[in-house]
Amino acid sequence: MRKYTNVLVAYDGSDLSMKALNEAITMAKENPALQIDVVTALNPTAQISSAVVYASILNELRKEAVDLLKVVSDVLYEQLPNHVVRTMVLEGNPGNEIVKYANDHERDLIIMGSRGLNGLREWFLGSVSHAVLQRSHCPVLIIK
Ligand SMILES: Nc1ncnc2c1ncn2[C@@H]1O[C@H](COP(=O)(O)OP(=O)(O)O)[C@@H](O)[C@H]1O
Ligand SMILES: [Mg+2]
Repeated sequence: MRKYTNVLVAYDGSDLSMKALNEAITMAKENPALQIDVVTALNPTAQISSAVVYASILNELRKEAVDLLKVVSDVLYEQLPNHVVRTMVLEGNPGNEIVKYANDHERDLIIMGSRGLNGLREWFLGSVSHAVLQRSHCPVLIIK
């Protein structure tokens, strides 16, 4: 396999996204130069009329995202103490935000799960992985 150097892991807290993170960790253990960014996107799409309610929901989602990434940084710190790693919370449509992040930060590989936290089990791909596969400018490794 080509040697990737700037990997992006899309993490939503699901088992498959943890598996995606572990795949990146395995690659990094064989390649000290591999840099890993992990992003989680929060998406306050609900039609909320009250600005106050919206702000409190957004706050709650931000806290959840930070907690999710705390789990990730603990794993990374333990497994890859000498690698360059970053975690980031994105806001907006997850598929769009993941692709945009990958472009803006010159990622050469995106690793993500085939499924995530919700959705219909009979569908092979979740909507976020589908969107990223369609729009990404770099290779995408889908973990199942
Ligand atoms: N909000 C998100 N932020 C970052 N990555 C995500 C997010 N949602 C999904 N992903 C990534 O996309 C993969 C597939 O999830 P998704 O397409 O949402 O399927 P599902 O419909 O089963 O939830 C996840 O394993 C994860 O890697
Ligand atoms: Mg999902």
